[in-house]
Amino acid sequence: MKNGSGERTRVVLLAAGQGKRMKSDLPKVLHEVLGKTILGRLMSASDELKPEHVHIVIGHEAEQVEKFIQDNPSATPVSTHLQQPQLGTGHALMQVAPSLKDFSGTLVVSVADTPLLTGKTLKALVDAHKESNAVVSLLTTDVDDAKNYGRIVRNEKGEVTGIVEHKDATEAQRQIKEINPAIYCFAWPQVEAALSTLKNDNQQKEYYLTDVIGWAHKNSHKIASSKVPDWREVAGINSRLELAEAMRLMRDISINNLALESGVTIVDTQGTWIAPEVKIGKDSVVLPGCCLTGEIEIGKNCTIGPNTVMKGVVHVGDNTTVAQSLIHNSDIGSNCKVGPFTHLREHTVLHDQVKVGNFVEVKKSIINSKTNASHLSYIGDSTLGSGVNIGAGTITANYDHITKKKERTTICDGASTGSNSVLVAPVTLEEGSVVAAGSVVTKTVPKGALAVTRPEQRNVEGWADKRRKKAEAAKLEAAK
Ligand code: UD1
Ligand code: CA
Repeated sequence: MKNGSGERTRVVLLAAGQGKRMKSDLPKVLHEVLGKTILGRLMSASDELKPEHVHIVIGHEAEQVEKFIQDNPSATPVSTHLQQPQLGTGHALMQVAPSLKDFSGTLVVSVADTPLLTGKTLKALVDAHKESNAVVSLLTTDVDDAKNYGRIVRNEKGEVTGIVEHKDATEAQRQIKEINPAIYCFAWPQVEAALSTLKNDNQQKEYYLTDVIGWAHKNSHKIASSKVPDWREVAGINSRLELAEAMRLMRDISINNLALESGVTIVDTQGTWIAPEVKIGKDSVVLPGCCLTGEIEIGKNCTIGPNTVMKGVVHVGDNTTVAQSLIHNSDIGSNCKVGPFTHLREHTVLHDQVKVGNFVEVKKSIINSKTNASHLSYIGDSTLGSGVNIGAGTITANYDHITKKKERTTICDGASTGSNSVLVAPVTLEEGSVVAAGSVVTKTVPKGALAVTRPEQRNVEGWADKRRKKAEAAKLEAAK
């Protein structure tokens, strides 16, 4: 390594700010962009650098942000650093510095409100930083509307000499179209010396991290900059409108990749929302109105939609159709038919050639191959064998409201239930058994047996005819 930064890399994410312009009780970094929080996206991008540690500065609503980090452990060791009060981005980095006593290498520092930033762009910045022997490296980008971004100031030789914040900029500086995305690499510990020089004698009375660039220039430290070709990738989210814009852009990127790289037909590119982490196999078709966000993997030749929502961790095999349905943390096999109007909830596993149809809800259940549940059922906490047929309106009564306990239902291979049967868990239908329509089953149904729990049918001959005649007579009487 030329600049003595060595192979060691750590990341600092600045996430302590309030995000006033979001007008929200939720901290800005916990707002979601296509199924994943802004901070979650930054943490994933950071992971791609395989750093030894990620430091996250928290402050505003620190407990909520801390909880999110605890609940979403990442591949890299993470620590949080409380910044209280929040006196600016430079002050935020000061909170981390004491934890970097033994660190010598490349310190990547990024604002945490740029959800479109990719690991690839970060990696290119780090590689260029190490290659160039710079003390400070930064990303820049050209924009048409520089909004409130910090402007990159260059000298007549084109070298970066500093960054000036919009609020502190002169009219002439405000004309600069090259802006600061606030994503940097610092050679550590050299740059630590800059922190004690930061002052808050500016419009916002804050300690600006951007002043580190001016410090580097004044001290003749090498500054390297690389320009991101599409400014939108490093756009900061400050308002709800910018959040919506980021979602549109992320959707466009995902759909482009799926259509151009993976051979997927997306019928309505504007009315379909797909997160970048979603993978779909060749010749699958996504019909209008779908929203696919999460760790989703769909096989080849599938038809998804219209109007299908998939969230969480979802796998779908090949040649499967999922129409007008809501799928959450479930596994669906190959050659399955799901929907219309099916709700698959957490921990549902459908093996191959399963049919789950109209108005069927499945939760925490395993359904083996060639089993059908085509109409109007609730299947919860159950294991269904293969070749099972679930009659319309079959319900697994899995919940005891008094004990608050849930019990399991087991339906073995080849068993079937008649329409409108209730299976009161815990209960087992053994292999090849049959439950008669309208039965309420509370005991094991043995292999090959029929369970009938309704009163036997009794026919009253002529009853209907008599009743009709009586009604007609009454009508004639009334008309007189
Ligand atoms: C910052 C940059 C600006 C750049 C822009 C890019 C500074 C002084 N300005 O401005 O040059 O163009 O980002 O989007 O750095 N934060 C803290 N503690 C604080 C203040 C902020 O952790 O005391 C965090 C926020 O949570 C946020 C990030 O730093 O993730 C940026 O803060 P924000 O207030 O959005 O800065 P900008 O005004 O956008
Ligand atoms: Ca910002």
